[in-house]
Amino acid sequence: MFGGMKKVSFAEFGGPDVLQLVDAEEPHAGPGHIRIAVRAAGVNPVDWRIREGQILGAHPVELPSGLGLDAAGVVDEVGEGVVGVEVGDRVFGEGSSTYAETAVLSAWARMPSELTFEEAAGYPSVMETALRVIGETGVRRGQTLLVSGAAGGVGSAVLQIARDRGITVIGTAGAANQGYLRGLGALATTYGEGWAERVRRLGTVDAALDLAGSGVIRELVELTGNPEKVVSIADLGAPEFGARFSGTAGSMPAALAQAIDMISWGRLHIPVAKSYALAEAAAAHIDSQAGHTRGRRVLVI
Ligand SMILES: NC(=O)c1ccc[n+]([C@@H]2O[C@H](COP(=O)([O-])OP(=O)(O)OC[C@H]3O[C@@H](n4cnc5c(N)ncnc54)[C@H](OP(=O)(O)O)[C@@H]3O)[C@@H](O)[C@H]2O)c1
Repeated sequence: MFGGMKKVSFAEFGGPDVLQLVDAEEPHAGPGHIRIAVRAAGVNPVDWRIREGQILGAHPVELPSGLGLDAAGVVDEVGEGVVGVEVGDRVFGEGSSTYAETAVLSAWARMPSELTFEEAAGYPSVMETALRVIGETGVRRGQTLLVSGAAGGVGSAVLQIARDRGITVIGTAGAANQGYLRGLGALATTYGEGWAERVRRLGTVDAALDLAGSGVIRELVELTGNPEKVVSIADLGAPEFGARFSGTAGSMPAALAQAIDMISWGRLHIPVAKSYALAEAAAAHIDSQAGHTRGRRVLVI
């Protein structure tokens, strides 16, 4: 079919089985946008939250709907008013319905030559989130940041940005990820029974991030001694303890620029936990929802 493509779509909210690979018309790049031939799409937890209809306030959905925010690929259409990018350029960035052979991006940058498409698709959302939440804690060079849920996509970026800024990190993760956290320059301990005491033994905490939503806000407030120094991206109940819930995205162009800079200096690497074909989007969601991703899961087109 001319002008047609494959995309992942869902016609009702629900479990992973609502995801279907369907034929669709190719989208077009409106003013200020570009279209890419998608080579890889990042899988973020927000994608399955949208699929379940959990967060319709922040992400309104009209069914049937595509899915996916992050992508890397080759530019094949440039919208009105767009400058500095041409058909054929390799870019990574953020758009909509990126679980597809073709997608429109609203923010992008040229891909660093060091990255494969598969790797590049894992950076945009985690980098934007990591920069935003570190900023919201107000943590400074020479201080110590506690990160609960440090081994995932956002945690991997937070640890490396903090190391770059001279901030000490104490990270919590499962037993299998202790070496991973230490490799990113953090002090590491396991979550679960007695975790707050283990953190205390590692050092004094100036600020804290909850990236796992595992019900630890009260302890994070106790460890920092100041609820204003505690930020969660995964626990809507954080304000009950005087802490902040961060949900409003910051600047994606600034996040991509920072990623490119750090990658060029060899100071940032988000590992691909596992790659999946477009037709395996449901399997990628099941694995992401299991909650133990190291780095980012990616659909490869
Ligand atoms: N509000 C926002 O703006 C925003 C933005 C981005 C993401 N989010 C949310 O933030 C969360 C994290 O995102 P992500 O992309 O980093 O997720 P992810 O890549 O799926 O990572 C999940 C991580 O959580 C860890 N984990 C699981 N149970 C834990 C526990 N009890 N204590 C501490 N860590 C635990 C896992 O480590 P182990 O394997 O070692 O257990 C895994 O590395 C998601 O819920 C996502 O929806 C919110």
